Amino acid sequence: MLRVGVMVSGGGTNLQAILDAIDAGKLTNARVVVVISNNPGAYALERARKHGIPAACVSPKEFGDREQFNEALVAKADEYELDLIVLAGFLVKIPQQMIDKYEHRIINIHPSLIPSFCGVGYYGLKVHEAALARGVKLTGATVHYVDGGMDTGPILLQKAVKVQEGDTPEVLQRRVMEEAEWVILPEAIHQIANAKQSQKEGGDNR
Ligand code: GRF
Repeated sequence: MLRVGVMVSGGGTNLQAILDAIDAGKLTNARVVVVISNNPGAYALERARKHGIPAACVSPKEFGDREQFNEALVAKADEYELDLIVLAGFLVKIPQQMIDKYEHRIINIHPSLIPSFCGVGYYGLKVHEAALARGVKLTGATVHYVDGGMDTGPILLQKAVKVQEGDTPEVLQRRVMEEAEWVILPEAIHQIANAKQSQKEGGDNR
């Protein structure tokens, strides 16, 4: 059973998609054992509580400096003995010590087809504003492993979404979430959880 920690900053619709996929049996061999946010007001924490999942807040404002915050964030994750950390709209830079300690065990969902519209400054609505400004006909979402860069780690899954005539950033964001993010993030966790399972059973990994 893959022990999953989800890190959030906002509404938590991606977290909800993960929980719903587990409840529906589409995401197997995995359990969300903690939800961690930097934002005490994140509705994602409420979603966790409603699901009976420990919800923790580690806010930079509580600490004298960034190094103390970074250490507290890693310590919170360590408490739950996680196999996988999922960044679902987590807007704080992941400390290098966490990336080193959880190497190849942190994934992120980004609301574009990386390498387009990603990197520093590309988050939330800004991603969709840039896609509309460029006039792309297809956008979408990407799940990738987290390395020391910003949206630069190995890509795991992508799903394309058509841009429609008259789309506003808000309308496009919602379509990308519904048609791509909420599909590929649970799927990525399912693949990791079950690839791990087949390795244990000595399964064929072709
Ligand atoms: C999503 O659009 C995701 O792509 C981005 O941040 C947003 C999080 O939304 N990384 P939610 O908190 O999961 O609703």
